[in-house]
Amino acid sequence: MAVGIYFATTTGKTEDIAERLHQMLSTAESPKDLADLPDLNEFQTLDGIICGIPTWNTGADSERSGTAWDSLLEDIAALSLKGKKVALFGLGDSSTYTENFCDAMEELHSYFIKAGATMVGYVSKENYTFEESKSVIGDYFCGLPLDEDSESDMTDERLSNWSIQLKKEMTGL
Ligand SMILES: Cc1cc2nc3c(=O)[nH]c(=O)nc-3n(C[C@H](O)[C@H](O)[C@H](O)COP(=O)(O)O)c2cc1C
Repeated sequence: MAVGIYFATTTGKTEDIAERLHQMLSTAESPKDLADLPDLNEFQTLDGIICGIPTWNTGADSERSGTAWDSLLEDIAALSLKGKKVALFGLGDSSTYTENFCDAMEELHSYFIKAGATMVGYVSKENYTFEESKSVIGDYFCGLPLDEDSESDMTDERLSNWSIQLKKEMTGL
């Protein structure tokens, strides 16, 4: 059983979280920067895929991340990921960007759904303070939102809870 962790970042925070998550999920492979991958074919060799994405393009409907993920969305949709479990974590700022908190996560989520993946790792929107997020579906975020700008003191607990959740929901961990 193989699980990979992938991230893209502009100022390094999503990479830092990917490393911290890897310490908690030691059976997963070491985190890889999406910008260094030649293509996404290795996604098809895995049982589980964990992806980290920040939001930079505030309010945008498309290409919300502002990172390497944006140009790979159609490539994700073209993959066949049926039977694979995918979990997302998003980096954002719930204070300064409270009307667009972690918006990019949902865009990535929609493309993995197109590829046939089974999405796991949803997190209740309770315990977060924000106005709006495209990444809320019903009462849940479609992944784990993290805020290293305004709520970094909550990150350890959020990561720890999520890693326990993923060990239950994701094959291979
Ligand atoms: C110009 C700018 C725009 C941003 N837009 C958003 C946004 O729309 N929503 C959000 O939640 N965070 C937003 N952020 C916060 C970043 O997503 C956050 O700092 C994140 O941790 C950056 O991750 P990275 O270091 O991996 O790139 C923005 C930050 C800046 C400086």
